Amino acid sequence: MIRQLLAYLILAVSLPATALAADVEAGKKLYATCVVCHGANAEGIAALNSPALAGQSEPYMIRQLWDFKKGNRGAADGDTIGAQMRPMAMTLQDGEAIANVAAYLAALPPSKPPATVEGDAVNGQKLFGSRCGACHGGKGWGNEALHAPRLNSIGDSYLMRQVRNFQDGLRGAQKSTNEGKQMAIMAKSVTTEELQDIAAFLNEPEPQE
Ligand code: HEC
Ligand code: HEC
Repeated sequence: MIRQLLAYLILAVSLPATALAADVEAGKKLYATCVVCHGANAEGIAALNSPALAGQSEPYMIRQLWDFKKGNRGAADGDTIGAQMRPMAMTLQDGEAIANVAAYLAALPPSKPPATVEGDAVNGQKLFGSRCGACHGGKGWGNEALHAPRLNSIGDSYLMRQVRNFQDGLRGAQKSTNEGKQMAIMAKSVTTEELQDIAAFLNEPEPQE
C-alpha cells in the first residue's frame, strides 16, 4: 500500500526544477535580518527553534518563504513557533528578494547541528530507507527533482517538530501546496519512536555524497 502510494506521489511531482537567476550578494545583505535567529552562518539556533538553512534546497526555501507569506505555513491555530517566522517572511518584499536570499543560503556549506535526540541509528537507517529515502535521498541529502528538501542538516529537534506539525495538520493541510500535502500523508507513516531512530541516523556523519 505504502509502496503504491509512493510510486504515485513520486510520479505526481516529478517535474523539472526551474533555474533562477538570482543575486547572491543581494541575498547576503537581506540575510542580515535573519542572523539573530538562524545564526551567522545559517547554522540554526536550536534554543530559538530556528532551523539551519545553510545548504538547503533553493527551490524548497523559495516555496517555504512564499508559504509563510501567503499563510500556508505559520498561520494555523496552535503553530506558535511557525508564527514567529511568518512576519519575517513578510519583510521579504517580493519574489526577487525571496529568490536572492534563498540563493545565498543554498550556496552555503550545509551544517551539522549537534545531536539532541537519542535513538537507534541502525534501525533508523532501515526505516529511512523504506519510508523516506525514495524522496529525500539515501542519507537525507534531498532530491530537487522530487522537490524534497535536505533533512540531514536541519537539526533533529526541528525535524521531529516538523513531522509532528505535518501529522497534526499544522503544516501540509488543505490550503497547502501539493508538496506539503504529499509530505503530510508520508508523516502519518511514522511513530515518535521511529522518528527518534530516523533522527539518530540522520545525525550520523556524512558518507561521501
Ligand atoms: C524571530 C526569529 C526568526 C527570524 C528573525 C527569522 N526566522 Fe526563519 N524561522 C524561524 C523559526 C522559529 C522557524 C521554524 C518555523 C517552524 O517551526 O515551522 C523558521 C523557519 C524558516 C524557514 C523554513 C526552513 C525549512 O527548513 O523549512 C526559512 C526558509 C526561513 N526561516 C528563512 C528565514 C529568512 C530568509 C529570514 C530573514 C528574512 C528569517 N528566516 C528570519 C525564526 C526566525
Ligand atoms: C513521496 C515523497 C516523500 C516521502 C516518502 C517523504 N517525504 Fe518528507 N517531504 C517531501 C516533500 C515534497 C517535502 C516538502 C514539503 C513542502 O514543500 O512543504 C517534504 C518535507 C519534509 C520535512 C520538512 C523539512 C523542513 O526543512 O522543514 C521533513 C522533516 C520531512 N519531509 C521528513 C520526512 C520523513 C521523516 C519521511 C519518512 C518517514 C519523509 N519525509 C518521507 C516528500 C516526501
